[in-house]
Amino acid sequence: MRKIVILISGRGSNMQAIVQAARNEQWPAEIVAVISNKADASGLDYAAGLGIATAVVANKDFSSREAFDQALQQQIDQFAPDLVVLAGFMRILTTSFVAHYAGRMVNIHPSLLPSFTGLATHRQALTAGVKIHGTTVHFVTPELDHGPIIAQAAVPVLPGDSEESLAERVLVEEHVIYPRAVRWFVEGKLTLDGDLVHIAKDAA
Ligand code: GRF
Repeated sequence: MRKIVILISGRGSNMQAIVQAARNEQWPAEIVAVISNKADASGLDYAAGLGIATAVVANKDFSSREAFDQALQQQIDQFAPDLVVLAGFMRILTTSFVAHYAGRMVNIHPSLLPSFTGLATHRQALTAGVKIHGTTVHFVTPELDHGPIIAQAAVPVLPGDSEESLAERVLVEEHVIYPRAVRWFVEGKLTLDGDLVHIAKDAA
């Protein structure tokens, strides 16, 4: 069984989608822990309710980014994960932390990268007037929201859309592509070779 640790900062709906898919589809993997940088992240209750180990490493308790990332890394590595999944984990990570998990840490970003990195992506999309928006699953590299792309899904931007209505439409797709990408990884069908993403031809 592959081991997965999921990092969250809030409600964790992507985490929930991955946990459910892992169970329903009987992945060769186990979600061994859900870790948050915020003690009040509601996703923690969901995970604990399913008997998944939870932990909080609160960034506010650390005086530097480096110290926080070191503590987080120690906490993660106690679970010896094969894959670290960032699911709404709202932190910029240090280069050494990212290097430690090279090729085994993935993130979901709510835009069609390379467009609209950073925060408020739905507002950025509405301001830019794009007609197509979406979401991207990618391997994590030191540059924020720039890692090799694994999967993307697009949605239309509709007349009268608000940030909220657009976010809701994108989130539906996030819950499809993120569990699928994580499953590919645990099935050994998704690897990173340098900057190149390899997805097996029979990945479904
Ligand atoms: C998602 O839109 C994700 O793409 C972004 O933050 C949001 C997290 O939502 N990184 P949730 O906590 O998974 O519900």
